[in-house]
Amino acid sequence: MPASLVIGAQWGDEGKGKIIDVIAQKADFVIRYHGGNNAGHTIINQYGKFAMHLVPSGIFHKNTIGIIANGTVLDLDVLVSEIEILKKAGVNLKNRLLISPRCHLIMPYHPILDKVYETAKGKGKTGTTGRGIGPVYADKVSYNGIRLSDLADKKVFQEKLKVQLEVKNKILKALGEKQLLQKKIEDKLFVLFERIKPFVLEPYPVLQNALQKKKLLLFEGAQGVFLDNDWGTYPFATASTTLSGGITAGAGVAPKHIARVIGVVKAYTTRVGDGPFPTELLDKTGERLREKGGEFGATTGRPRRCGWLDTAILRFASAINGFTDIAITKLDILDGFDEIKICTGYTLNGKIVDYFDGDTSFFAKVKPVYKTMKGWKKKVAGITHYEDLPKEAKTYISEIEKLTGIKVSYVSTGAKRHEIITR
Ligand code: GDP
Ligand code: IMO
Ligand code: MG
Repeated sequence: MPASLVIGAQWGDEGKGKIIDVIAQKADFVIRYHGGNNAGHTIINQYGKFAMHLVPSGIFHKNTIGIIANGTVLDLDVLVSEIEILKKAGVNLKNRLLISPRCHLIMPYHPILDKVYETAKGKGKTGTTGRGIGPVYADKVSYNGIRLSDLADKKVFQEKLKVQLEVKNKILKALGEKQLLQKKIEDKLFVLFERIKPFVLEPYPVLQNALQKKKLLLFEGAQGVFLDNDWGTYPFATASTTLSGGITAGAGVAPKHIARVIGVVKAYTTRVGDGPFPTELLDKTGERLREKGGEFGATTGRPRRCGWLDTAILRFASAINGFTDIAITKLDILDGFDEIKICTGYTLNGKIVDYFDGDTSFFAKVKPVYKTMKGWKKKVAGITHYEDLPKEAKTYISEIEKLTGIKVSYVSTGAKRHEIITR
């Protein structure tokens, strides 16, 4: 069974890009299958530092082919710039990147609609990345989407755009927004399409063939479990499914091929955007995690909310995705803390409760139960052998294993590719 998945186990930004960059060396294909350029996957390797928004993070390995599968939504402007950045850095993309013609396009009206909904919600806003993700998926499921394949036939594209603008411009006008011009959008998108045309090819037969030949497929999840549209803290969620099960709809690969599901877990918890976060620290400790961890969004630059590790959500994430193992990232950020807390569960009005016991407003009220662990004085930053970790760091890791019931197979001790312990 040759497919492995890398899934964000918290609220995104767990360090999925780093882990993919490490393990993609052995992969024949790395596949993005959902989300869009709301994702920002940071990679630091011999080519430099990159924030990958659409191109799969495994693209830096010569023998690995990157696939942007059908479930991904595309902002062509962002995609073209990303391709340019990679080419300039010396990454050869020729015959190494495939983009599904079934991908839906983020059109200029989508980010505008994203913004106006957020403004209308005021205090209750989701805190989106403003990339038009909600509106593009809404158009997709309501049969109003425009796909990449539509751009291949100018007439078809013009007709579809005309219909959309007829409706969208009325909405924009009512909202006091500027009208969008058909010609301007067409001209721009036709030019951008020409730039990516060499990469546009249906990946389905390629992947089916690869599966038959027992090639290794690595799926790159975006966002995180608790941003999932169904199982996350809706409406403080994203528009796609962020779970392991998303690969069938998002890439045309059956679940039976999955051998491994790696949950990426930051050694503490962060969240960017609004919504409940039981272990959030609004004090100096939270500030220390943000500063030390450089917790500012790779896509929007927004400061990330920080808190202790929550193993109650991890147990849920593990069960719903079928985690086979866990990759812990950013353990080095906990260097020098006297005490480290781990949330073992929640209570509400004195009763023990769990994540799935209620909806988002319920989750906003639960109180974390903590176990206090001893910090470590020796630095873990840059350590590459498990035996070299301080005793207290090993205890922290085994506590995570105990509380989640899942084996920790990677421990990341720095942002660079080689700063990793493989167990
Ligand atoms: P992703 O969206 O899950 O790929 O994560 P992001 O790239 O948005 O955020 C993770 C941040 O942590 C990035 O700045 C990474 O360079 C950085 N990072 C990843 N792993 C480690 C680690 O083990 N230690 C440190 N110090 N930084 C890390
Ligand atoms: P990566 O792949 C962290 C969050 C937004 C907001 C909610 C909805 O880098 O981990 P959206 O723009 O998707 O409509 O926003 O989801 N969000 C992320 N948070 N990491 C991400 O991606 C995210 N992508 C979306 O902040 O709360
Ligand atoms: Mg990110």
